[in-house]
Amino acid sequence: MSITNFRSADAVSDRSAGAQAVTPKKTFQTLQEKKQAGRPITALTAYDYSTARLVDEAGVDMILVGDSLAMVVMGYDSTLPVTMDEMLHHTRAVRRAVRHGIVVADMPYGSYHVSVAGGVANAARFIKEAGAEAVKVEGGAARCELVERLRDAEIPVVCHLGLTPQAVHRMGGYKVQGKTLAAAEELARDARMLEAAGAVAIVLEGMPREVAAIITSQLQIPTIGIGAGPDCDGQILVFHDLVNLSFSRPAKFVRQYGDAAALFRTAIEGYVQDVEERSFPDESESYHLSKEVTDVLKAQEVTDALRAPVTASKTHLIRKA
Ligand code: KIV
Repeated sequence: MSITNFRSADAVSDRSAGAQAVTPKKTFQTLQEKKQAGRPITALTAYDYSTARLVDEAGVDMILVGDSLAMVVMGYDSTLPVTMDEMLHHTRAVRRAVRHGIVVADMPYGSYHVSVAGGVANAARFIKEAGAEAVKVEGGAARCELVERLRDAEIPVVCHLGLTPQAVHRMGGYKVQGKTLAAAEELARDARMLEAAGAVAIVLEGMPREVAAIITSQLQIPTIGIGAGPDCDGQILVFHDLVNLSFSRPAKFVRQYGDAAALFRTAIEGYVQDVEERSFPDESESYHLSKEVTDVLKAQEVTDALRAPVTASKTHLIRKA
């Protein structure tokens, strides 16, 4: 393929109603430019085709196929059980929907913890088999070697520091991190090391606003906060939290922008009621035969009635005759 045909860095046409005909494809350079210009970066999770289309058509910069899907889509009580194959499946669905945003695949627990080589091999699967443009890994300085190897393998990597849900057992629950001076310093040091190792962005989750602000000011690469205050270069939320579909008490940092649960509930209850009352489907929601075919059918009905099967009680009369 000629590099002059390479579309992802070029403008691509937009299929959303009313959108401009051409919208530029976003890249990590776009995020870098936004940081430098002081323009906030937007990011959201998406796990399937329909939500990914809505998120992309709204102009969100980065779309994360987060392992949070283990909890909000699959109903597990942590992110730990979701597998590589499940994450690949969801990433492919999102990939088919997204034209402008950067698709980042979250590497599930166990997919990069056993060995660096195993981590690189699994990351390559997200790029090659699912069309992701980058992967995300959780953890601090211990991830530096992996980040370097991913950079060498041409795989952009987003890191994730602070409240890292895959470390729920080590943290003793989903607790805000970096609250002591030593812990805050460690987070800032980890962030600098991950940047030096080649990370293209860092998600800062569940940490005091002040710590996130210091880290953001020390890094050249963008920080994307979730429960880390307003001073990060961008923000990310779990889509299901944003629209009240996660069936759990929202964390302090979640702002709900809609109530999809109420909307869906009303729609589902209305459907059930209409079916039970036989008011759905109605005449306008039914398909019809043409008049000619209906006439033929009616005529056949008359003929068939005349040829109606002989009942058992009459068969002896026929045999005698
Ligand atoms: O899995 C996820 O959704 C995440 C975001 C919360 C950053 O990691």
